[in-house]
Parts: sequence; structure tokens; C-alpha cells
Amino acid sequence: MSEQRDMLRAEGLAKTFTLHLKDGLRLAVLKDMSFAVKSDEAIALTGPSGSGKSTLMRMLYANYRCSTGALNVRHKGEWVNIAGASAQIVTAVRQETIGYVSQFLRVIPRVSTLQVVAEPLIERGACEQVAERRAGDLLERLNIPETLWGLSPVTFSGGEQQRVNIARGFAAPYPILLLDEPTASLDAKNRQVVIDMIVEARDAGTAVIGIFHDAQARDAVCTREIKLPERAAA
Ligand SMILES: Nc1ncnc2c1ncn2[C@@H]1O[C@H](COP(=O)(O)OP(=O)(O)OP(=O)(O)O)[C@@H](O)[C@H]1O
Ligand SMILES: [Mg+2]
Repeated sequence: MSEQRDMLRAEGLAKTFTLHLKDGLRLAVLKDMSFAVKSDEAIALTGPSGSGKSTLMRMLYANYRCSTGALNVRHKGEWVNIAGASAQIVTAVRQETIGYVSQFLRVIPRVSTLQVVAEPLIERGACEQVAERRAGDLLERLNIPETLWGLSPVTFSGGEQQRVNIARGFAAPYPILLLDEPTASLDAKNRQVVIDMIVEARDAGTAVIGIFHDAQARDAVCTREIKLPERAAA
């Protein structure tokens, strides 16, 4: 019964990097990982530095290829294995099913903050007005002054850029949301706003998977932990 709420199932995932510039040296980072994540769960990926948390996150967003294993996500009611899926399927899954708030905003010069935040909704077919209204609501909630909305975030402070990135990640709802250190460079007030936004998404049914070095945010948000083991010496 509860399996019906699974949004993501990883089966036998492994990742080995082959360093061609180092005589083909092989780094086995992740080995035989299997786990499932349900709707309205929030998972903290934990483990020592170098254990592969960011690597796993990139595999979940299909930025890194899985060396072995399957990564099944529930996309529009169907199970899709994104490990080895075509570029078109990966694009569709990213548009509708998996959202990702990376650690740093990728800033495109000349694109305004309001447009950066509204873009995921426009890509889904929302009209510009509706998308920009939603973008404005999020920016306001995240305390980005309206005077900045028309500017590119290129020159924004680290914390401002992070809040723009979070607003963008929350503009459209996603069944699965990946968060890489979403509160890392925020002050206490904005950290609480972000915590509230993640909890609201989780309680509305989003399956959240995140890396949180900030223990207070992790405790406030996460319902479970997936701990990566320390890597054995090669
Ligand atoms: N593209 C890559 N090529 C080669 N090795 C890589 C690559 N990406 C990651 N690694 C290696 O994989 C290991 C895990 O890195 P990863 O960044 O996933 O760790 P982490 O658990 O996120 O650590 P931290 O808590 O310090 O952020 C490291 O030894 C790293 O050097
Ligand atoms: Mg990392």
C-alpha cells in the first residue's frame, strides 16, 4: 500500500569515476545503493566529506551517468528509468517531475531576476503574466526588494543569489525536489522562510531529497536520513 506513494526508487546504484588523465585510475565512490523515497518524505543525505552526497544528487538529476543500477522515477504516472534515458526524456522529467535547487545560481547576463524565477512556469506553458505574478510573490516572500526584480542577479550578493535560486526552484511545483545546501548562506530570518517553504512543499506531497550541513534546517525539515558510508581507501 505505502509503495504506491513511492516517487523514486534507486536499485543497485553505483558510481565509479575513471580518471583518464591519471592512467585510467578508477575511483569507486558509490556502491550498490538501493532506496525508495515517498511522497511527503524529506530525506537528508548525510555522510562524511567525500562520501559521494553531491555525486548522488547529480546522478538523481541525471547530470552524472550511473555506472550501474536503475533510477526509476514516477513521471506523469509512469515509471521511467532516468539512468540511461534519452535526452528528451531527461528534459521532460526535469520540466515536470524533478526540481533541483543547486548550490549556486547559474546566472545568465541580461535576464532579469523576475524572468529567471518565472522561467520554469513559462516552460510548462503558463502565460507570462501568471508566471511573473507567482515569481513576484516568491521574491517578496524571500525578501528580495522589488527594486531588484528588473535587474540580472549577476551582481547580487551570495545570499541574494541563493534566494533567487530557491524562488526559481519553487516557482513550479514538482513531485520530487532536490536541494543542495539550500540554507547555506542565508541569515536567520531568510533561513526560516526557506525552511517553511520546504516543509510546505513536503506536506503538500513533494518527495524532498537534500544535503543540509545546517543541522537546524535538517532537523526542521527531514523525516529520514540516508547515510553514505565513508569511502574505503582505494
Ligand atoms: N567529476 C568527477 N571526477 C572525478 N572524481 C570526482 C568527480 N566528482 C566527484 N568526484 C570524487 O568523488 C568523491 C565524492 O565527491 P562528492 O563531491 O560527491 O562528495 P560529498 O559527499 O558531496 O562531499 P562534501 O561533503 O565535501 O561536499 C570525491 O572523492 C571526489 O573527488
Ligand atoms: Mg558535496
